[in-house]
Amino acid sequence: AGVFRRPPVLAPYQTGFDEGDPDRPFARYALTQKLGQAQFVPGLSTTIAGYNGIFPGPTIRARQGTRCEVRIRNALPAKGLLHPSAFRTVTHLHGSASLPQYDGYANDSTAPGNVKTYRYPNWQNARTLWYHDHNQHLTAQNVYSGLAAFYPLTDSYESAQLPQGEFDVPLMISDAMFNADGSLGYNDRLHSGLYGDIILVNGVPWPTMKVKPRIYRFRVLVASISRSYRPTLSTGDPVYIVATDGGMVPIVQPVASWRHGTAERYEILIDFRKYRVGQKIGLLNLSNKNNVNFVNTNKIMQFEVGADSGSNLGGITSIPATLDDGGSVNPHQGGIATMSLTPAMAKVKRSLKVEKVNGVWKINGTTWDDVVASRFTQLFANPQPYDVEQWTITNGSGGWFHPVHIHLIDAKIVGRNTNGGKPFVWETGPKDVFYVGENESITALMQFDTGPEAGGRYMIHCHNLVHEDHDMMAQFAVGDSRV
Ligand code: C2O
Ligand code: CU
Repeated sequence: AGVFRRPPVLAPYQTGFDEGDPDRPFARYALTQKLGQAQFVPGLSTTIAGYNGIFPGPTIRARQGTRCEVRIRNALPAKGLLHPSAFRTVTHLHGSASLPQYDGYANDSTAPGNVKTYRYPNWQNARTLWYHDHNQHLTAQNVYSGLAAFYPLTDSYESAQLPQGEFDVPLMISDAMFNADGSLGYNDRLHSGLYGDIILVNGVPWPTMKVKPRIYRFRVLVASISRSYRPTLSTGDPVYIVATDGGMVPIVQPVASWRHGTAERYEILIDFRKYRVGQKIGLLNLSNKNNVNFVNTNKIMQFEVGADSGSNLGGITSIPATLDDGGSVNPHQGGIATMSLTPAMAKVKRSLKVEKVNGVWKINGTTWDDVVASRFTQLFANPQPYDVEQWTITNGSGGWFHPVHIHLIDAKIVGRNTNGGKPFVWETGPKDVFYVGENESITALMQFDTGPEAGGRYMIHCHNLVHEDHDMMAQFAVGDSRV
């Protein structure tokens, strides 16, 4: 157990306006991917590879309407920390409707010694995004080495309704294993998954966070390579789901626990006002089927309630029942608010099956190696800009769960084969990762809204990063696939 900390916030090195136009603000950031030393195991130091040499990397706080440029220098050594291949990197801003050339396409990587500037539009509604590595076949090792960080995007609707500042707390949950000398251990169990025995929150094992008796908002991100969680409070009290991957939920949902796979974001409120000073409240993990558990993987972190001191600046004084995301829609002509999508709007229905065939993870019988062999022409779908489609994702196999991520889009889950055909209460907001457990399927509506510029190719993959790497990844294109 350690002391809770928040990742540092990165300041832009420059802000201004495109072509001097006050309606087109921008912010420029610089990051360096490099080795660093971290303390996870008492008395030992661990070499990591992180953005600015830290894990989690620096948080970039972006504002809707302010375009960001992030200049990323790859100052990593020639070979990976956990693999003998070249330490090439490509950064994906997960949750962003980025143009394809800035979307972290797995084969568009940058070699050590090189720099790439990524341009992010930030026209979407407020949400918790995160950036992480996405290099072909090596995403698991690269992310596990430390290449992951938060990128919360704010807007006027979100900031008027949910806690800010001191009461707005990012929680990056991951798991890891360490060798006797403190170095990172890595074992993906024959490409089935990495399950560490140490739970980290913002890079600290099972931390304790001192809180005031107030309402806090936690932006919970699971950045584990494979493990999924089922968080719950030790008191049995509910937490309140206020946002999912793509932004605020229309109706706030109290839940006793929720299922949380890799790359999913659930924002929750916890009301600490009812607890006494000195009380300790655990955030525990009830676990889900098909994980590998260890003696302490049933715990995540704990909160210790302190005296109510200081101001409530940025805080809220009651749990809201509903939230207004302003329509959750971009300013482009043709954009439909995600939660207003209806099945009647869908032009096409498609099904996507995730499975293991002869030891290889596949989507509809194909792999990313097949996409590469086709010279990137093989497409799962090719919608036109602004098309609405309905996709059903099925995990027909026993023994595995798959958190499937579709790039670019926000989707509304309209069906689950379990749970009486309805989405779980915690997933009744915009989603970009879909947890399909053993023998589960989900149906979701999505609009292919690329923004004002051209479309192009985007990935679909399992976010169990070991499955993604071997080789459960496909692609679709919006409009022109050659972009
Ligand atoms: Cu979070 Cu394609 O990734
Ligand atoms: Cu998977």
